[in-house]
Amino acid sequence: MFKRAVPLYEDDSHSCLAFVDLVKGSGIQSNQFMIVNNKRSALIDPGGDLTFGALTIEVAKYSSLDNLDYILASHQDPDIIASLPKWLIKSPAKVITSKLWSRFLPHLVPGYLNDETGISLNKRIIGLSDKGGSIKLGNSEIIAVPAHFLHSVGNFQFFDVKSRILFSGDMGASLIEDNSAAEPVLNFKKHILNMEGFHKRYMTSNKACRLWAGVVKSLNVSMIVPQHGKPFAGEQIYEFLDWISNLECGIDLIDESFYQPQVSVFEQTA
Ligand SMILES: [Fe+2]
Ligand SMILES: [Fe+2]
Repeated sequence: MFKRAVPLYEDDSHSCLAFVDLVKGSGIQSNQFMIVNNKRSALIDPGGDLTFGALTIEVAKYSSLDNLDYILASHQDPDIIASLPKWLIKSPAKVITSKLWSRFLPHLVPGYLNDETGISLNKRIIGLSDKGGSIKLGNSEIIAVPAHFLHSVGNFQFFDVKSRILFSGDMGASLIEDNSAAEPVLNFKKHILNMEGFHKRYMTSNKACRLWAGVVKSLNVSMIVPQHGKPFAGEQIYEFLDWISNLECGIDLIDESFYQPQVSVFEQTA
């Protein structure tokens, strides 16, 4: 049984919803998000085949798939957008992602759909330039905030102007083992243990983290909601931004030894 979607923000005409427990089996826990404004909707990072079936059922409770205007993909990973062809068939949504990935995403779509007689892929996948920009949804607006190299080379986060929630993709992600992804971080120091390994390897460098955190501090966000694990609210937002600004990660931590291959990786079987 799935839990009901978790409301992150709700007023008469606008809501932000999180689906936190749709991943089953061995896939990493992932959150999917939906923004609805005046019956028009957008999905953020819907995931792959693993979540597609359950997510379509949950999404239909809040908005007709015919009213799904956008799929917003922070980057190209399987847990972000591998379900692309199914959404293109089942809804009229346009897919918005970095221009660095918009030309690679058609590889997820079967050839028979991949031309003008199919689903007009060129008109359905929109590549954003590095600066991102504003996306109109109903009477509201979502801003694609540049977050390149955090972790993907072409990476966006999505800032919902009405709620001031920043959907931060893999930035701020945590690996949690219980069913508490909907509950905001309460004890930041303890929570570091759930984030540190991931950010040290998956984020490119301290420089990228620091520059990004400086911009986010100026946005006056109400929450930072990552695609894995728990959201940050209140003072935890600033604890996180300070921590990530000072974290050495990615290429900060490598030297020549990193590229030395191991002598024997796999045993040959007879
Ligand atoms: Fe990723
Ligand atoms: Fe992810």
